[in-house]
Amino acid sequence: MSKKLYLISYGCQMNEYDSAKMADVLAASHGYQRTDNPDEADLLLLNTCSVREKAQEKVFSELGRWREWKNADPSRVIGVGGCVASQEGQALTERQPLVDIVFGPQTLHRLPELLDSTRGTRRPVVDVSFPEIEKFDRLPEPRAEGPSAFVSVMEGCSKYCTFCVVPYTRGAEVSRPLDSVLAEIAQLAGQGVREVTLLGQNVNAYRGAMGDSGEVCDLALLIHHVARIPGIERIRYTTSHPAEFTDALIDAFAEEPKLASYLHLPVQSGSDRILGMMKRGYTRAQFLDKVRRVRVARPDLSLSTDFIVGFPTESEDDFVQTMDLIAEAGFDCAFSFIYSPRPGTPAANLRDSVPEAEKHRRLDILQGRIRALDDAFKRNLVGTTQRVLVERPARKGRGQLAGRTSTNRWVNFAAPDALLGQFVEVEITEALSNSLRGRLRGVEQAA
Ligand code: SAM
Ligand code: F3S
Repeated sequence: MSKKLYLISYGCQMNEYDSAKMADVLAASHGYQRTDNPDEADLLLLNTCSVREKAQEKVFSELGRWREWKNADPSRVIGVGGCVASQEGQALTERQPLVDIVFGPQTLHRLPELLDSTRGTRRPVVDVSFPEIEKFDRLPEPRAEGPSAFVSVMEGCSKYCTFCVVPYTRGAEVSRPLDSVLAEIAQLAGQGVREVTLLGQNVNAYRGAMGDSGEVCDLALLIHHVARIPGIERIRYTTSHPAEFTDALIDAFAEEPKLASYLHLPVQSGSDRILGMMKRGYTRAQFLDKVRRVRVARPDLSLSTDFIVGFPTESEDDFVQTMDLIAEAGFDCAFSFIYSPRPGTPAANLRDSVPEAEKHRRLDILQGRIRALDDAFKRNLVGTTQRVLVERPARKGRGQLAGRTSTNRWVNFAAPDALLGQFVEVEITEALSNSLRGRLRGVEQAA
């Protein structure tokens, strides 16, 4: 009987990507298959996130729930990976003795050895080191799941924004060599992948070695190389840092039609005083200038961002400046969070001066505004015909398929399953709160 893995993943797209790789590594080494039923699993992996306190606390409450599962069969193994594991290391096994394996984002490829070791010795094992880019050399061949795939091109972050734990949990920026990235994407394209999202915590800092030439490839050039891979028709990337959103990246929106009309450019705040305290490395005016130029390069762009409200000392005036920036930049999508002090980060030493109720009030106002802008963006698409990559059957409704527009909006429409994995033309007929509805107008012939 094959071994079964139950995997729970929290957090960002990088974590989602890592979770898929964990499953691949264990499938290749031990024949593990993923299951949705924990009762038939003998291995539980939690891929954790520590970017905000709530996410971190969830890990410990989640672990508590697995005591009975483990007691029912003590040979069962519990592994904790991701950023909480990286931050806590050994302390995690002390705080929660149920845990057998602790591994970090850069050591997931060592899971097979870690698993054998804990099974052999019946003692917990911990490996949260940062062995640079070794991870990518040791991962099995990529496996496509559908026509859209994530491809991690760099790891870590060296920006050290004062609020953020990522540089400590994921280590410094390290880029994969260009050839290794292109080979992975070509393999995925061979398996029917038509769209890739190039991933990195600070993906604009990609600097991949080009063979032995001593030259490096930046993200803009990488996009052009990826666009030449047969079968790849659409390219996205995330997450961009505004300070490193270069002219070459702006030009790519004008020059490269395969680059999707969607950009996630986290601004965090509209107040120069707060941006300075966050050490973001740009001013509001510099941010707006880049937005203005990218809109010239790609007029139909969907612009998404991240905000933190309630950063220490954030005044009503700072918040008003953030709200004004929303209008000026014309964001149509945003992820917004209440500031959460993270141990070990510089901002954690600042007095958390904004009252709790005030933080919630600001978040509600900001989210209400963003919802209205997202609704308006979707309403504007009604009556237009959009190029949609058909990704999966729709969650509701038989005979309905779902795919995304270039601007990253989900559309549901009636169509035969044979169109899964293809680009189609869909006329948008209705805007709903989380998606669009449309009517199939045509099917694109594969290149
Ligand atoms: N690399 C991205 C960038 O350029 O800003 C950010 C990656 S971070 C994991 C994702 C988002 O989480 C950030 O953009 C920020 O809005 C939010 N975040 C990070 N640390 C936070 C904290 N301590 N409290 C609240 N939100 C936080
Ligand atoms: Fe965090 Fe700033 Fe890097 S938000 S991931 S330190 S760009």
